Amino acid sequence: MPTPPIDPTTTSAWQDLSEHESTLTPDLRGWFAEDPGRAQRLTHQLGDLTVDLSKNLVTDETLALLVRLGEEVQLADRYQAMIRGEHINVTEDRAVLHTALRRPADAEPPLVVDGQDVDADVQRVLGEVFAFAEKVRSGEWTGVTGERVRTVVNIGIGGSDLGPVMVYEALEPYVQDGLEVRFVSNIDPTDLAQKTADLDPTTTLFIVASKTFTTLETLTNARLARTWLWEGLLAGGHIADTDADRQGAVAQHFVAVSTALDKVADFGIDPTNAFGFWDWVGGRYSVDSAIGTSLAIAIGPDAFGELLAGFHTVDEHTRTTPLAQNVPFLMGLLNVWYVNFLGAHTHAVLPYAQQLHRFAAYLQQLTMESNGKSVRWDGTPVTTATGEVFWGEPGTNGQHAFYQLIHQGTRLIPADFIAVANPAYPLTDGGTDVHGLFLANFFAQTKALAFGKTAEEVRAEGTAEAIVPARVFSGNRPTTSILAPALTPAVVGQLVALYEHITFAQGVVWGIDSFDQWGVELGKKLAMEIAPAVEGDAAALAAQDPSTQALIRRYLELRG
Ligand code: F6P
Repeated sequence: MPTPPIDPTTTSAWQDLSEHESTLTPDLRGWFAEDPGRAQRLTHQLGDLTVDLSKNLVTDETLALLVRLGEEVQLADRYQAMIRGEHINVTEDRAVLHTALRRPADAEPPLVVDGQDVDADVQRVLGEVFAFAEKVRSGEWTGVTGERVRTVVNIGIGGSDLGPVMVYEALEPYVQDGLEVRFVSNIDPTDLAQKTADLDPTTTLFIVASKTFTTLETLTNARLARTWLWEGLLAGGHIADTDADRQGAVAQHFVAVSTALDKVADFGIDPTNAFGFWDWVGGRYSVDSAIGTSLAIAIGPDAFGELLAGFHTVDEHTRTTPLAQNVPFLMGLLNVWYVNFLGAHTHAVLPYAQQLHRFAAYLQQLTMESNGKSVRWDGTPVTTATGEVFWGEPGTNGQHAFYQLIHQGTRLIPADFIAVANPAYPLTDGGTDVHGLFLANFFAQTKALAFGKTAEEVRAEGTAEAIVPARVFSGNRPTTSILAPALTPAVVGQLVALYEHITFAQGVVWGIDSFDQWGVELGKKLAMEIAPAVEGDAAALAAQDPSTQALIRRYLELRG
């Protein structure tokens, strides 16, 4: 029997937070004016990340109560249980050990879970991935014509896509010259068609990345890719139309990453060209497993090692730091404050770094697939609201799109602003450092959101009285600022681990299993049932509800 979750609403901290909220008038201007030490006191160093929490709608009392809430729901204990390998993924009866993927090779004592020497297995697979990556990078690994690989196409979806593509984009300056990785995820055939349109099959390597190796989108795309490869090689006269040549082509142009190596073999990929991982790595927590093989090829084993070390820095901070100074836990508890006490429904993540343009998409799976739940890990209903909609776009693009609503709308939208001090491309414009100009926006936005602009200040600018209200900014719009020296592999690892553990903290408070994802199953099953109807099967069509039937009929009409 799993340990029953602690209902957070029954804790004394929750009651005190409710009372505290009812008497609290957010006043960031006043709080900063009265307390010169606020910025410094509420700013933390987490590895390379400077994390300023001072522009959040909290007083010291709020933070103390949130810390007490974390203690009362035994947040730190549950983290320890996770990293020890207890089966905290209760509904799937699995350990949750993504933190083991980034333990150093010489970590002591060795981590043995359910009879498995986890450290040894992790290091073995990492060694295999790195050896393969080196072969591709050096040109030792070739296609059927003996030419080296120039393009790697990662075929995967969800956690088998979003993590690798996000980190690849983030670390683009680290990618080896002459190598490119593309990512195909959508079963919309446009995705594969567009990504392969200008590729030469003789220099293309496909990585089929799927934890289960059953995912419809990935297997369909993998088959399409295999057909594209065969047709291209045949047309170019590089292989003969024989089973042996086709198999040979797959052996040299396809590798796989999966926990289901038997299914990899069924697809026709030689299991010696497959990299494994384990059921205790959740899909959305897998970028630092063999799922990151495309990345290891692109940025190389050394940089990949630095990425892992970045993750580990944050894991260690989370493991060893008391709650009151524990950055991921504090940020998770702040999110609970906003969702459960101040009524926030969404959370913006706004990187002032173009290279992080896929970060919000990555976080959407991490946070929403983890914490979008209505029942707790013991099957009982949740006792309070859970989850937020995470969203965002890189600054400054967002400023010219949706920031209006964050500044002056009626909804409370906590926002995380992320920036790096040193850009990958330090361009100047007539002698002006463009990155400085960019970051001036980063600093300005959080200032405007926190402190706003009063009617008096607007009037003092000579604004006509009739439009004064429209030009007032209320302020008190909460933000967290995260500033890193540069977008290095270590920093990217730290950022991802930070959000993993924020997500974990919220899940523990809410008593939910943040590591299952049953909510995606129904749609998948129905798609398989509906597929024959879409192909014109009358019985399958008749079995659908009236709306779905009408939509499919219309679709069939439109297809002619
Ligand atoms: O969307 C559901 C899901 O199971 C995700 O959790 C997972 O990351 C994705 O599908 C892909 O799964 P797989 O790696 O098994 O193909």
